[in-house]
Amino acid sequence: MSDYILAKQNGRNIPLEDKIFGISNRAKAMIAEKGPDKVINATIGSLLDDDGKLIVLSSVVEAVRNLSPADFADYAPIGGTSPFREAVKKAAFGSFEPKSLAEAVATPGGTGAIRNTISNYSRPGDKILTSDWHWAPYNTIAGEMGRSIDTYRMFDENGGFCGADFECKVKALATAQKSLVIILNTPAHNPTGYSLTDKDWDQVINALSAAAALAESIVLMVDAAYIDFAGDEETYRSFLPKLETMPENVLPVIAYSLSKTYTLYGTRCGAMICMAKTAEIAAEFKRVCEFSARGSWSNSAKLAQVVLSRVYSDEALLKKVSDERAGYREMLLRRGRAFEEEAKKVGLNMVPFDAGFFISIPCENPDEISRRLEKEGLFIVPLAKGLRVSAASVSEAACRKIPAMIKKAMG
Ligand SMILES: Cc1ncc(COP(=O)(O)O)c(C=O)c1O
Repeated sequence: MSDYILAKQNGRNIPLEDKIFGISNRAKAMIAEKGPDKVINATIGSLLDDDGKLIVLSSVVEAVRNLSPADFADYAPIGGTSPFREAVKKAAFGSFEPKSLAEAVATPGGTGAIRNTISNYSRPGDKILTSDWHWAPYNTIAGEMGRSIDTYRMFDENGGFCGADFECKVKALATAQKSLVIILNTPAHNPTGYSLTDKDWDQVINALSAAAALAESIVLMVDAAYIDFAGDEETYRSFLPKLETMPENVLPVIAYSLSKTYTLYGTRCGAMICMAKTAEIAAEFKRVCEFSARGSWSNSAKLAQVVLSRVYSDEALLKKVSDERAGYREMLLRRGRAFEEEAKKVGLNMVPFDAGFFISIPCENPDEISRRLEKEGLFIVPLAKGLRVSAASVSEAACRKIPAMIKKAMG
């Protein structure tokens, strides 16, 4: 019998309860029953301080407090305000100055950028390519539009990026579909924390340059949601010039999000930024993405657009925001390193990790292991191929405890 009463399934697999929120609710219930010192809730995807409170950059709060009513109450233009479109390119590119034509369109978070890239650069029924370890909402976003996710193997036997499988899948899908959208979440990938190295990037670029002859269009969407929490902001943008070396029909699109970088998760602000080889491709990008915005959420919220514009028009404020973020980034990096050290000590195998909000542990029976860990007061997220621990939401001390707990639960 169908689960649906009046609603139409339309090919989607809609669970009765969101898995992560379900686990988080059980963690909250245990905290209420046994006290906060008995529970580690490593499920949350926002950066929290050591006491479990949401971190909000005070420099950003100050900018929000200085807004006038029209800065947040008014509609923004469909594609975003002009100062925002310029500011968000600077935020995404850092000191890199693209030679290509970069056009930015505002979106509600990185999620909106992912949605409109899929809707405009693939056809219904198409497969969207990403790595086997990936952020589950990609499936939801693709499924909502009658597309699905196909995957390549992210890591080879030696724990390095599996460029060979990437190339093989790109070739097959480019040939079969003639159009291909690829999502690469890097640096500080969710859920593994992996960042593509320069060498990995060269493999990606070579594979796409070769596949360009097989397809009408290939869009490489770089989901950069965690780019400013990976490490030095310039070093982690070193891949950007490589994106400009591909043929004209391979379009790089950056999905940029203000959620993490500006701790503005709830204001729903981001952008999709193309790096086009011709003015026609850039103009088409703007036209189709704005059209899709009108047909899905209309205009994006104005508040964070104005905040970002102010930050980038005031050098002192920009420095304040960057310095403040750098402090929290160091805290997050310390948590990740603490986890790695302890995992090594107890012999717990991790999926190759570099930096970021999440760490993954490969295992055969993730649901069973996470049920066992919940009984011990440790809440993490079971995935298809392992367990996801959020270093963003727990203290360094907890990061030192968790590896031994997981190792024990694995028996
Ligand atoms: C991998 C990844 N991409 C994109 C996003 C988009 O987030 P938002 O829509 O809040 O910008 C997230 C948020 O958790 C994410 O983890």
